[in-house]
Amino acid sequence: MSNFRLVVLASGTGTNLQAILDRLHGRDGVEVVGVGSDKAGARALARALEAEVETAAFPRDEYADREARDAAMGDWIEARGADLVVLAGYMQLLSAAFVGRFRNRIVNIHPALLPAFPGLDAIGQALAAGVETTGVSVHFVDEGVDTGPVLLQREVAVPAGGDRARLERAIHATEHELYPEAIRMIAAGRVRIEANGHCVVVTDE
Ligand code: GRF
Repeated sequence: MSNFRLVVLASGTGTNLQAILDRLHGRDGVEVVGVGSDKAGARALARALEAEVETAAFPRDEYADREARDAAMGDWIEARGADLVVLAGYMQLLSAAFVGRFRNRIVNIHPALLPAFPGLDAIGQALAAGVETTGVSVHFVDEGVDTGPVLLQREVAVPAGGDRARLERAIHATEHELYPEAIRMIAAGRVRIEANGHCVVVTDE
């Protein structure tokens, strides 16, 4: 397989980035070629540096507006030669121009079974709704909030009594398996987005 280059964007602690670095980076032709953040002090950037991956910060207040920030970030991503932009806890809304520039080449991970519980605090939303099962979704990013084509989902049972800390641990453990798995499928050329907006996964020959 020829090299498949990832740029990861992350705002926070970066445990999903770490899973990608540990399970994917440098294997089967997949390489993380950059980690970007809106926060110069994000723990995710320190994880990238430890793995000797190039980093860059694009704080909102250093640019005239969100469009200007996203244009600069897009230029950096293109200069890294990225095939795929991987959102891993990136907490900023992306401008429509950025989404259009990397159409069908941006993925996100969301801690719920989309279309259920989009947006912020999906785990809290699931607990408040009293569902017995929630989960994790990997989806392509469009102009909406968590509305793009879903590639992979995995269910996670809500613990009896709705223990939030336990549910968070179970969801994160599931994310750390599912995201590398989904990205590996894309890198292998097994994922197509149909005209109707649905993802189709081509099975192994
Ligand atoms: C994850 O729960 C992910 O689903 C959401 O943001 C969180 C990021 O966590 N989009 P981490 O920074 O990867 O630990």
